[in-house]
Amino acid sequence: MTRGKPILMGPTARLRETSWDELGKMTPVEIKERGLFPYPSLPHPKHTPGGQVFPEMQIEQFPRLRRFDVDFDLPEEFLPEFPPAIFLQNRPELGDVSRGEVVSINNYYRLFKGLVTPVQLDGLRLLLTPFPQEEFNPTDDRKSLEPSLGVTCFDCHVNGHTTGQFHLNPDNRPQERRFRLDTTSLRGMFDQQIHGSKRSLRSVEDFTEFEQRTAYFNGDQIHAMKKGLTILDRVHVSHMAQMQNMFDFPPAPALDLMGRLDRSKATEEEIRGEELFFGKAKCSGCHVPPSYMDQQMHDLKLERFMDEPGRGPIKTFTLRGIKESPPYLHDGRCLTLEDTVEFFNLVLELQLNEQEKKDLVSFMLKL
Ligand code: HEC
Ligand code: HEC
Repeated sequence: MTRGKPILMGPTARLRETSWDELGKMTPVEIKERGLFPYPSLPHPKHTPGGQVFPEMQIEQFPRLRRFDVDFDLPEEFLPEFPPAIFLQNRPELGDVSRGEVVSINNYYRLFKGLVTPVQLDGLRLLLTPFPQEEFNPTDDRKSLEPSLGVTCFDCHVNGHTTGQFHLNPDNRPQERRFRLDTTSLRGMFDQQIHGSKRSLRSVEDFTEFEQRTAYFNGDQIHAMKKGLTILDRVHVSHMAQMQNMFDFPPAPALDLMGRLDRSKATEEEIRGEELFFGKAKCSGCHVPPSYMDQQMHDLKLERFMDEPGRGPIKTFTLRGIKESPPYLHDGRCLTLEDTVEFFNLVLELQLNEQEKKDLVSFMLKL
């Protein structure tokens, strides 16, 4: 990753009674009947209360984010680097402007004055200001030992990216039908037209306003009233949105202006991977360059493979900078890029061989 964290390689899912090759040759009906699909949905480790959970490496630095009732459940090796690099789309020549720090209310002014406009700087201040939330608040009905001022947007979207924080989808009833949601990166927000894996909100402004009003209280407005709902006015929301739109993807020096590989900078394996991506493997049908998304939602119909109700259409996430934001899919059920290739090999019934799978991953590492 940009600041040096190694990327874990290889599929992590454990197969029962079969190999990847054999599994790829089976029909969806066969896989379902034998219960062999290796990527079932990932639940919240404490699904009934649900709520926001922060990784241990972050809690060590910011103990106010510790809950007493639940622990983070994925090893740090499978998470993005902490803290992540920050790229600004208005200052590409500067590269990573994080200086290795976690941006907070204590250092943002020093780090960002002169780099962004006063309006954006004010937006950043708000993104770093705690607002009361279901688990972190001053009432007795909280999940932190000490009373809390709340969480900030960047407690989850650390440095405008993500480091694996998760919570439950706020919109669904009943509880068991709610999705665990892995925090998405805000990198490249300026290029995205729909927001949220299910909600498909049409502006960063709307998402900013409603993330805080609904997701913070698991969709329960009555709890919000009791624990301290903050209603942001539209001026502040627009400042926050303007700042979110400044975060860029990490540089991809091997890509040309159309987002395709510059062949003079690519290996044989990467070139084969690109050909598969745009050909036999069908990935580009939904992940369209240069931002490697199509501004659409698609139903992958996983109920073909599993005894689980289907989840319906989900936003196609961008693949730019994808190596820096594990775990993958809306709930983080795929821990590595190899897992995502095995996943799509089954879902799209591609029957890729081992070399082809490797080639596809090599290509994705360049995006
Ligand atoms: C629990 C940690 C958490 C906190 C705190 C949080 N977010 Fe998010 N954010 C998420 C998750 C998870 C998603 C993905 C939602 C989905 O897939 O439906 C997300 C998605 C988003 C998106 C849409 C990404 C896209 O284009 O699909 C935006 C914009 C956003 N958050 C902004 C904010 C703002 C602004 C705040 C502060 C008011 C905030 N977030 C606070 C976890 C968090
Ligand atoms: C029919 C449209 C479609 C096709 C074809 C497709 N994808 Fe996707 N892709 C999606 C959707 C939708 C998601 C989000 C699914 C979810 O979160 O449950 C996604 C998610 C991903 C992710 C995870 C992104 C993240 O941020 O977590 C990766 C990696 C990925 N796709 C790679 C591929 C590869 C490689 C191929 C080709 C082998 C491919 N996709 C083909 C629609 C598609």
